[in-house]
Formats: sequence, structure tokens, C-alpha cells
Amino acid sequence: MVKIAPSILSADFTRLGEEIDEVKKAGVEWLHIDVMDGIFVPNISIGIPVIKSVRKYTTLFLDVHLMIDRPHRYIETFANAGADLISFHVEADEPQDIYANIDKLRKMDKQVGLVIKPRTPASVLLPYIHLLDLVLVMTVEPGFGGQEFMDNQLSKIRGISSLIKEQELDCLIQVDGGINKTTAAIAADAGAEILVAGNAVFGACNRAEAINELVVSSNLKI
Ligand code: DX5
Ligand code: ZN
Repeated sequence: MVKIAPSILSADFTRLGEEIDEVKKAGVEWLHIDVMDGIFVPNISIGIPVIKSVRKYTTLFLDVHLMIDRPHRYIETFANAGADLISFHVEADEPQDIYANIDKLRKMDKQVGLVIKPRTPASVLLPYIHLLDLVLVMTVEPGFGGQEFMDNQLSKIRGISSLIKEQELDCLIQVDGGINKTTAAIAADAGAEILVAGNAVFGACNRAEAINELVVSSNLKI
């Protein structure tokens, strides 16, 4: 069953609690939180205090996507802020730090994801994939919501999906960027199991209806 993870990047931050209530009522289990530092990506979003507040407010699974340079500097802080899963970019840390991040998160009983940007080949995941709960394939250049889905990432999603099956790994594939009714079906058909959706959910007048449409099309793969 494909799941939708609404990204609060497109939410109305003046009513964040109500926004969270609405998506929770619509049946989602995951909430995607985009952290940007203005260095790894050309935008700055939200950080530790907001995650702490959201953690106090909701029991939803907090899926924190770090778009920050050298995430090893902050992994423990974000874990302590209340993330359930932290995903960080393979391009943002050296291999020894990537291993250390994975190790730290495991010891803190958190789930771990590794993210790849559109121009990063799937092969860079090979040394780590058996250690991960999730691989996040970006289908836009990270940094902004509301961009167009990059179809050229579909073969990468298919390749990672085959690798996970071949090696019988317990690792989910998540897709982030440009998800709407049409692209949700295409991404799910390629093997994505968790679809991040910002604009398609929080840009819609009726969040529940928008989530339901994404769920239906991604699970029917139409
Ligand atoms: C982009 C972020 C996304 C973003 C997706 O860098 O990682 O999570 O919120 O937004 P949409 O769904 O609007 O493309
Ligand atoms: Zn994201």
C-alpha cells in the first residue's frame, strides 16, 4: 500500500496545528518536514524549534528531510528534537560521516534514510543500502516546493526497487518533488512506496480530498 507523506513546507505556518490536524484526519501516518540551510540548497526553511513543537503536538510519524551541509554536525540534535526518521543527503557528508550518522541514529532508535539528488547516480547508495530503512529519490532539484516532477528519475527508482528486491532488503523507496495525481501513479508504478506531497496537499482547498485522490491514483497506479 503506497502512503502519502504531506510536506509541511507548503502549509500555512500561522495555522500549522490545524494543518496537521486536517491531514491526520484524512488518514495520513507520516508528516514530512523539510529542513534547508541556505548552503546545501539555495533556500532556508525551518529547523529545530519547529520540529520540537510539532513533536509535542502530534503522534504522527515525523519524517525529517535534512537538506543541510555536513549533516553529521546536527544529526543528534534533530533526533533529540523528536524526529522518528531522519533522511540526509549522500552528497552532503563524507563516507565516514555517513556511516557514523547511520550508526548514531540506530543507537538512538531512529529510522534512517539516505537521499539522492536528481543528478546523483543510484550506484552511490550501494555501500549503505543494506543499512537503511529508506532511500529517498528526489524528483526535483531540492530547495523549493511546487516544481515539476522529473520523469528522467523513473529508471533510477526502478533500478533501486529491483536491487532492494534482489537483495531482499527491508528498505522503503520514497519519492519527493512534483507529486500530483498523475505523477503519483507513475512513481508508484516504478516502485515508490512513500510519496511526499507538498503543493498537491497544502495548495488544495480541501486537504482530505487531495490526499484521497493521491492515495487512490497511487494505489491503482492509474
Ligand atoms: C523540496 C522538498 C519537498 C517539497 C515538495 O526540496 O524536499 O519535500 O516540499 O514539494 P512539492 O510536492 O510541492 O513538489
Ligand atoms: Zn523533502
